[in-house]
Amino acid sequence: MNEKTGVRAVMSDIQEVLAGGERSYINLSAGNPMILPGVSAMWKLALANLLDDDRFSSVIGQYGSSYGTDELITSVVRFFSERYRADIRKENVLITAGSQQLFFLAINSFCGMGSGSVMKKALIPMLPDYSGYSGAALEREMIEGIPPLISALDDHTFRYELDREAFLERMRTDPCIGAVLLSRPNNPCGNILPEEDVAFISDACRAANVPLFIDSAYAPPFPAIHFIDMEPIFNDQIIHCMSLSKAGLPGERIGIAIGPSRYIRAMEAFQSNAAIHSSRLGQYMAASVLNDGRLADVSLNEVRPYYRNKFMLLKETLLCKMPEDIKWYLHQGEGSLFGWLWFEDLPVTDAALYEYMKADGVIIVPGSSFFHHQSRHMAHSHQCIRISLTAADEDIIRGIDVLAKIVKGVYEKQAEYL
Ligand SMILES: Cc1ncc(COP(=O)(O)O)c(C=O)c1O
Repeated sequence: MNEKTGVRAVMSDIQEVLAGGERSYINLSAGNPMILPGVSAMWKLALANLLDDDRFSSVIGQYGSSYGTDELITSVVRFFSERYRADIRKENVLITAGSQQLFFLAINSFCGMGSGSVMKKALIPMLPDYSGYSGAALEREMIEGIPPLISALDDHTFRYELDREAFLERMRTDPCIGAVLLSRPNNPCGNILPEEDVAFISDACRAANVPLFIDSAYAPPFPAIHFIDMEPIFNDQIIHCMSLSKAGLPGERIGIAIGPSRYIRAMEAFQSNAAIHSSRLGQYMAASVLNDGRLADVSLNEVRPYYRNKFMLLKETLLCKMPEDIKWYLHQGEGSLFGWLWFEDLPVTDAALYEYMKADGVIIVPGSSFFHHQSRHMAHSHQCIRISLTAADEDIIRGIDVLAKIVKGVYEKQAEYL
């Protein structure tokens, strides 16, 4: 917890490199969303309305409930009950200081050292997944994951699939699983687990009596960065976890959990002790754009097409520039802010590839940290990299040019030694 892990450790290096100022880099690593004009205008108006509102002084001048402000909780209940015909009440909702904090509360409420000196773990049903989960765990190696099945869809496209058998076996035989969590759409690879897989996972969680956290940081209805059809899923085992960050409000730190009150209550108590509550200014702004429907509209009509077009550009550029004779694969683009590349039999590690790219002025994210501490045992985890869709078009094109050259070089060098 007091050391940076995974992508955050790489990000420290990246930030140092980018801040160095001696040369300019193409940054294909950013997780920061683009500032899009319609999104920015929406938040500006919400803030302007607050400044004119009689409630301004009490919004910023007083503490409030650790569940969240009444306004935002009421808006969340109304919006999600109407839109998804779900039975959601106030006691099912918790507002947190961003979804990273939500996962901190979740992982450490239900996992970690219990009274019987047994370490409960959080299980990811299908690796790779968000490296920030390992960073949020108070104990080392508290996050475990099931390796994926890999299917090649064509010469240069692949997709991860849930290994149902391995997941079920683990859930049935390991009494130390305290929670299950997954991102949908997935960071880093953009996979969207099909509804049947989510139902399968949720049934196993019900049988084991553990909560299932579905990280919806990229899901509909906001920010709606999904390129295939998907809907959020609500049931009595799932805590649906949302964020306003990728819908343009990362600075205000708003996360939203909707789930069974037995789980929400435990996290609220933790939040009350650890942080009291999230920013009330951000909560006010969030309530106003949820109520007038603008948050969902702008997500669907501006955020989603922006990243879908970027993904298409990335795919076309790779197809045009990458060497034909190398076994490279792009994960099928189903959603999220990233493209995920796999180089089969890559002769160097992902970390070495990151260093070569950096030396040539391009920053990407090496993939192994998304496999958490299991990366040590999986060759595949050292053959992948993540590319951000937040870069300018010309940077994506120039960055892939450099990647193609470097990858060609490392495979050719290997061939010389054979
Ligand atoms: C999958 C996923 N979950 C959670 C987070 C944390 O987001 P925030 O704390 O800004 O809501 C991120 C941030 O990039 C993410 O990619």
